[in-house]
Amino acid sequence: MDIKKFETLKQLHEYYSENNRCGLKKVATQPVYEIHPPTSGIVFIGEAPGKNEDLEGEPFVGAAGKFLDEMLKSIGYTRKDVYVSNVVKYRPPSNRDPTDIEKKDCRVWLNAELLFLKPKVIIPLGRHALERFVEGARISASHGSAFSHPSNIPIFAMYHPAAALYNPNLRAVLLDDFKKLKTFLDGGGEVGKKQAKKPTPTNHAKRKAVKDILDL
Ligand code: URA
Repeated sequence: MDIKKFETLKQLHEYYSENNRCGLKKVATQPVYEIHPPTSGIVFIGEAPGKNEDLEGEPFVGAAGKFLDEMLKSIGYTRKDVYVSNVVKYRPPSNRDPTDIEKKDCRVWLNAELLFLKPKVIIPLGRHALERFVEGARISASHGSAFSHPSNIPIFAMYHPAAALYNPNLRAVLLDDFKKLKTFLDGGGEVGKKQAKKPTPTNHAKRKAVKDILDL
């Protein structure tokens, strides 16, 4: 699939809603996605839609989304300034974790979205999104830190906002990580030498990161 085929995000999402192999399509109400590119270039990636998102067709509209909005506000942004997506585009039944196969079956869709958006920074929320961008990283050791990526788009790791709903201690951690994100963005969004956990990409890895599996 040539990404230039799509003039708008809406077209892209409509195409991949039809052309994907995700088994959750059969059980979910609808795919969940947003259609407005962010003015800030900031892209958050969550795990998978929950009940509210499944019903409304938009990401992060439930309790986790409300906390995300609160944290955005604390650093001077609103939801309209940023873009929010998910590793998996359909709600897994009873909000269970998405399986490896479901994540793989939605991988092309997320890649296409990111190629279209060309984000300034990608912020994986929680372990499912983090593992997609920084292989082998653990969220407990990585949250609040920036990582380089073969695509040259910095990755800034965060806990998932829902984690703070179950573990109130993580609320302060997340708010503090948002402050670190603000400092990172105000500093130009460069992954510094000290901060970088650099996997030193080969040319092959670079090509793969950009072109990777756009064919179904
Ligand atoms: N949790 C997620 O990971 N994504 C959503 O869209 C909502 C809750």
